[in-house]
Amino acid sequence: MIVVSNRGPFRFARNDDGTFSAHRGSGGVVSALMPLLANREDATWVAAAIGEDDRAAVLAGTPTPTGGVHAKLLALDPTTSRLHYDVVSNGVLWFLHHGLFDLARRPRFDRRFREAWEGYVSVNRSFADAVIDGAPEGETVLVQDYQLALVPQMLAQGRPDLHVVHFTHTPFCGPSSVRVLPEYVAHSLCSSMASCTTGFHTERWARAFRASAHEVLGEDAGVGPTFAASFGPDPAVLAAEIATPEVDAEIAALEARVGDRQLIVRSDRMELSKNIVRGFQAYDLLLEEHEKLRERVVFAALLNPSRESLPEYLAYRNEVEQAAARVNERWATSDWEPVILDQRDNYARSLAGLVRSDVLLVNPVRDGLNLIALEGPLANRRDGVLCLSREAGAHDELHHACLTVQPFDVVQTAAALHEALVMSAAERGTRAAELRTLAQANPPAAWLETQLRQARG
Ligand code: G6P
Repeated sequence: MIVVSNRGPFRFARNDDGTFSAHRGSGGVVSALMPLLANREDATWVAAAIGEDDRAAVLAGTPTPTGGVHAKLLALDPTTSRLHYDVVSNGVLWFLHHGLFDLARRPRFDRRFREAWEGYVSVNRSFADAVIDGAPEGETVLVQDYQLALVPQMLAQGRPDLHVVHFTHTPFCGPSSVRVLPEYVAHSLCSSMASCTTGFHTERWARAFRASAHEVLGEDAGVGPTFAASFGPDPAVLAAEIATPEVDAEIAALEARVGDRQLIVRSDRMELSKNIVRGFQAYDLLLEEHEKLRERVVFAALLNPSRESLPEYLAYRNEVEQAAARVNERWATSDWEPVILDQRDNYARSLAGLVRSDVLLVNPVRDGLNLIALEGPLANRRDGVLCLSREAGAHDELHHACLTVQPFDVVQTAAALHEALVMSAAERGTRAAELRTLAQANPPAAWLETQLRQARG
């Protein structure tokens, strides 16, 4: 099998002596697939060399680590990559699929966008060519995500013998939103994805894709089969990641700051779709409405830096920082800091937060799945309550056991946080046990098997 994704299993860092060392890539797809593909002779992972060090390592012919995944990293032209990644993938497709556009102002498809689109096409072409040139006859190819939506059609044209699936990890926009795209873009994306079998985390996104494809291509257009298949964390892998001295040290540091107070945690990338500002506004309202909770609760926002080359992300980070500061200015006392805002890129710290939390707030405006909502209950040791947005794909699986959050309704979110904080021990225990069962229902291996089966029709 060949897995094709923009972000790959490794990233390289240059050592002082000019050599390169390989580190694990980031993100949910990498954590899910790495253990499954490691040491499999029949698996190759094609991905982009993302940073400068990655590109230099590939150009220097640095081999990928042995015992890991057999990876082929593509050293793409940096300018073309930027157009593909920053402008089209993150600046347009991400915003479109997550419903983040402020349509009075954005997007604006000008001449510069046309050049960027050429960059997107060209990077998709490089990925497709790598597969076309390297794939054995009749191979199965699993293409991942919106950054590579044009690859399926390129493969269908260049190598009709291949069995191709495209899997989207984000939501997919609906038929009215897809009309925001220029026709040449909408048509290329939809016709490419319609040329193969497509997978999504939930039936909701699959339905949205089918409706969008028919909107763009016509009611009678042929659209390939769609399927919904999701994955959660591998419990054994997660447990091993938690059982480390680094995580213990982070738990101890958190305990020292929180003491015997209740702890609300959120753990996200610094990302517009995560709805971080409304989370603080809901917490502010909670403290306003419930005097008894003041000094008795702490909200730790554990936020990893993300896509800092995009101005929207930098502006959003400012908003987040200001919203957190406002809560602290309004409520802090000499020995109580209501909000801890931690922006270190530190996985051990994030795991520690999940372990120690009494309430986990996951309130995205829209999310393909949201792996944190599934990892949280498995990592947690305190029968923590999950407050989960109904707009996250994971809500479909967890809705019986979580408290549902309407992510735009700050009053309702505050009420859900309150319900979580005052819930009886018995109910917490029942819900947490159910969450643990549900979070283990779709291990990554089953998700991979589904893709392989779907590819072979
Ligand atoms: C999240 C999404 C994925 C997406 C990835 C890209 O993990 O769930 O669908 O592919 O972000 O992140 P990146 O940092 O590579 O832009």
